[in-house]
Amino acid sequence: MPRTEFIATGFHVPARLVTNDDLARLMDTSDEWITQRSGIKTRYWVSDGETGATLAREAACKALTKAGLEPGDLDCIVYCTCTPDHFEPGNGVFLQRELGISDIPAIDVRNQCSGFLYGLSVADAWIRTGAYRRILLVGAEVHSRGLDKTTRGRDTAVLFGDGAGAVVLGPTDDPRRGVLSVHLFADGRHAEKLWVDGPGLAHDPYVSEEMLQQGKHRAVMDGREVFKFASVLMPKSVDLALQANGLTPGDVTLLVPHQANLRIIEMVQKLAGLRPDQVYANIDRYGNTTAASIPIALDEALAAGRLRRGDLLILTAFGSGFTWASAAIRW
Ligand code: COA
Repeated sequence: MPRTEFIATGFHVPARLVTNDDLARLMDTSDEWITQRSGIKTRYWVSDGETGATLAREAACKALTKAGLEPGDLDCIVYCTCTPDHFEPGNGVFLQRELGISDIPAIDVRNQCSGFLYGLSVADAWIRTGAYRRILLVGAEVHSRGLDKTTRGRDTAVLFGDGAGAVVLGPTDDPRRGVLSVHLFADGRHAEKLWVDGPGLAHDPYVSEEMLQQGKHRAVMDGREVFKFASVLMPKSVDLALQANGLTPGDVTLLVPHQANLRIIEMVQKLAGLRPDQVYANIDRYGNTTAASIPIALDEALAAGRLRRGDLLILTAFGSGFTWASAAIRW
């Protein structure tokens, strides 16, 4: 059975840079509070005419160009997001249309901050079994339009940013390379600790004036609980990725964790037994871009020369659900 290799990566963020001081003009917050609690200094927000699918298209085109491929060479699209452009259909078909291709399958994966790793697991299984050869795996989010940009929503509004990351995946027969393992987890007992209640078909009517007034269409979060679980379960998932492959923290070239909060990333680094130089963080510039954060960070890390052929890459994520996951990849 072949393994799955990362052929190329790409990312795209909107042009509109939003600083902490910009946010302090919209709500009662400060650069100091945001920096101390999260490590975030800036994030990017979409402007008129931009959507999740257009961000994804830009990221995908960069990855395809690096891979020396055309959109028509793709066999399948796996699109990971928790901020879809529409209730239905899924964003995969909108991206497909943006890329000017048709007929190939497009699947949406709705696993929030763990979305990219859930999507990787799906794509990896299809590549290993030979179902599809060239898969475009995308994580893309437009959070900014959904945020409550008043003091009421300040605990979440300051954390999230917009962006897209894409990878082109394919089979390799080189037994020393590729995706070694992906481990996925979920615990729905915590579903309401980070969620958007409505509009949703659990409600009748599924959307109402009252619901909007109550702010049920905004993401709400129990930040402390999220922090507590993330900082324990992400390092555990890293341990598992290493143990499952007979590896130790010393073998890791680079850990690219989901970028939720710099304090969480530092906890993960310490609890996983890694040195700071083994971990990549760019949360200061992009904020939390949910399913896009890992592919954005990975593309940057590659451009910075942080990974070379044969190196060991570990990915880990945690988010709403709760869901969490890890992957081990021999580059
Ligand atoms: N600016 C200024 N003050 C703010 C604020 C903001 N943006 N957001 C909240 N506050 C206030 C709170 O209202 C609270 O005030 P009070 O003490 O008067 O009630 C105070 O700051 C402290 O809030 P608290 O919730 O105790 O802060 P915290 O240390 O737990 O940090 C988070 C809050 C959200 C930064 C932190 O819990 C966190 O990062 N959690 C994980 C979030 C995350 O990563 N989510 C995505 C997971 S994928």
